[in-house]
Amino acid sequence: MVNFRSNSFRVVFVLTALLVFIKHRTQITLATSNFGSPRISTQHSNEYIYPGHIFYDTDGDPINAHGGGFLHYNNTYYWYGEIKQGKTYLPKANVDWGGTRVDFVGISCYASIDLLNWRKCNTYNVLPAVNHDPSHDLHWSKVGERPKVVYNAKTEKFVMWLHIDTMDYKLARCGVATCSSPEGKFTYHPSFQPNGQMARDLTVFVDDDLKAYLFTSSEDNAVMHISELTEDYLGTSGGFERIFIGEYVEAPTVFKRNGKYHFIGSGCSAWNPNAAKAASASSILGHWKIIGNPCKGKYANATFHSQSTYVIPVSNGTDNIYIFAADRWKVNNLSDSRYIWLPITFDKKNVDRIEIRWQDYWRPGN
Ligand SMILES: *[C@@H]1O[C@H](CO)[C@@H](O)[C@H](O)[C@H]1NC(C)=O
Ligand SMILES: *[C@@H]1O[C@H](CO)[C@@H](O)[C@H](O)[C@H]1NC(C)=O
Ligand SMILES: *[C@@H]1O[C@H](CO)[C@@H](O)[C@H](O)[C@H]1NC(C)=O
Ligand SMILES: *[C@@H]1O[C@H](CO)[C@@H](O)[C@H](O)[C@H]1NC(C)=O
Repeated sequence: MVNFRSNSFRVVFVLTALLVFIKHRTQITLATSNFGSPRISTQHSNEYIYPGHIFYDTDGDPINAHGGGFLHYNNTYYWYGEIKQGKTYLPKANVDWGGTRVDFVGISCYASIDLLNWRKCNTYNVLPAVNHDPSHDLHWSKVGERPKVVYNAKTEKFVMWLHIDTMDYKLARCGVATCSSPEGKFTYHPSFQPNGQMARDLTVFVDDDLKAYLFTSSEDNAVMHISELTEDYLGTSGGFERIFIGEYVEAPTVFKRNGKYHFIGSGCSAWNPNAAKAASASSILGHWKIIGNPCKGKYANATFHSQSTYVIPVSNGTDNIYIFAADRWKVNNLSDSRYIWLPITFDKKNVDRIEIRWQDYWRPGN
């Protein structure tokens, strides 16, 4: 047993603590157990967002939540994303378009109060792969992408929508999963095509009147569909609008500011980045006016080498700030993909004119 009072232990301890501190910029707490021997717990803490760098969770592990969606509930931000781990490979069926993949593992969940420090949820993998049944939507051989979780106040359920596909992306469906807690294991409902239409990249937006809308890249990605969800948010309620016809928009994000709806998505160039596409509307179902690329400055034409995944509205007490959250995909090693988070700024006179500029590091609020 180590004696805390011995000098050699102290030297080793101080050096180790210093190294850990330097490596992870961690906060170190030392507690003494009932038996008098030291117990060291390290708590990783972040003061800034560093776009393009590894984001560490409070355990000091890289956050693994790609193509993510965010939910603000009970004064907590929840981040749900694709767990990308293991070998990246290129299935034969995807060679012509470079559609590399990792096997489906599940959907991760992280929670944070300040958007800087994220802990793993009580259940880390809230929608794990189902590997005993190759025909299951969640089998390792399938695709489960872009999870978006919303809270249904009527049913008091957390509802996840995600893009379900076969390895060759020919299935083009949505899957839905529900849970009575934001941090529990979600129950999966089998996939379907909303309104009988193809559906790949998606997002879900809940309006102030609590009506929810599903945005899906449809018609082989050429057209974006907007479908109103049923009251329980588990299905689509009938009709749908077709927007951005022939524009090939994917990675949709939708947010609302001062009564105006905003959209940011990307073009379709597989894992490779392209110029973001913004649009705005006075009514959620349209007409959506295309504004162009909101990114400005160096590498704006490649969205700073990233692809949109969500816009996080953050109330700072007086106003909202809006965080553009995107993925910097690493085509040949998807588990090493990074997050690009940047604040969106709005022109005071023309609210349609939104801008995203690169920042090496920044923090929400100030
Ligand atoms: C809300 O957060 C508090 C504090 O973290 C927690 O104790 C409580 O269980 C949460 N409530 C719900 C409904 O999740
Ligand atoms: C962006 O512009 C640069 C310089 O003009 C060009 O080399 C690059 O290919 C462009 N990237 C994209 C994704 O369009
Ligand atoms: C892929 O990235 C991960 C995470 O950064 C790293 O641990 C791993 O060594 C990389 N794999 C390859 C084959 O480069
Ligand atoms: C809140 O955000 C608005 C808009 O970005 C900003 O003008 C204001 O200074 C912020 N207030 C605080 C308290 O951070």
